[in-house]
Amino acid sequence: MFTTFTISLNSLNETQRLGSQLANAVKELWEQGITLYLEGDLGAGKTTLSRFIIQGLGHVGNVKSPTYTLVEPYELEKGKVHHFDLYRLGDPEELEYMGVRDYFSKNTLSIVEWPEKGLNYLAPADLMITLSLDENRAAHIQAYTELGELIAKRCCSNLGNNNK
Ligand SMILES: Nc1ncnc2c1ncn2[C@@H]1O[C@H](COP(=O)(O)OP(=O)(O)OP(=O)(O)O)[C@@H](O)[C@H]1O
Ligand SMILES: [Mg+2]
Repeated sequence: MFTTFTISLNSLNETQRLGSQLANAVKELWEQGITLYLEGDLGAGKTTLSRFIIQGLGHVGNVKSPTYTLVEPYELEKGKVHHFDLYRLGDPEELEYMGVRDYFSKNTLSIVEWPEKGLNYLAPADLMITLSLDENRAAHIQAYTELGELIAKRCCSNLGNNNK
């Protein structure tokens, strides 16, 4: 069983801090290819966290929500980011037609908002972050692979509560 972390995100500053810590952890392990699933209700803050991660990895400028394009690519100095938003995906088979498997490759961080809409067509998650918006905003971080565990530990051990 891998470690889980819960981080409270009561302000955009806290989300920015999580995003930049995640980016720093990814930078050291980027070449392996990393898959990050982002879950949470509409407005929970998935795109906001994605933006801070992508900017933390060296992107200067805006990060558009890929709601209509399904995927937005970024070519950065040390690697690539593929930022997916599958909310408007009608049929997960569309992912097959677009050759989605090729997007999950070495030197690439794949961030997937609404991964549940593309079940069985995506690479499995190394790390899943569930954003909640109940009384307080929080991120629940769960690793599913050794690689995800490394990233979670490097990112979070100085940020929040270690649940196990
Ligand atoms: N930690 C935070 N504190 C305060 N506001 C936040 C925080 N995180 C996100 N927000 C705000 O919440 C709103 C929705 O955020 P965002 O678009 O990132 O959600 P989302 O999960 O991507 O939604 P969707 O499922 O519609 O794509 C934005 O206005 C954003 O600025
Ligand atoms: Mg979004």
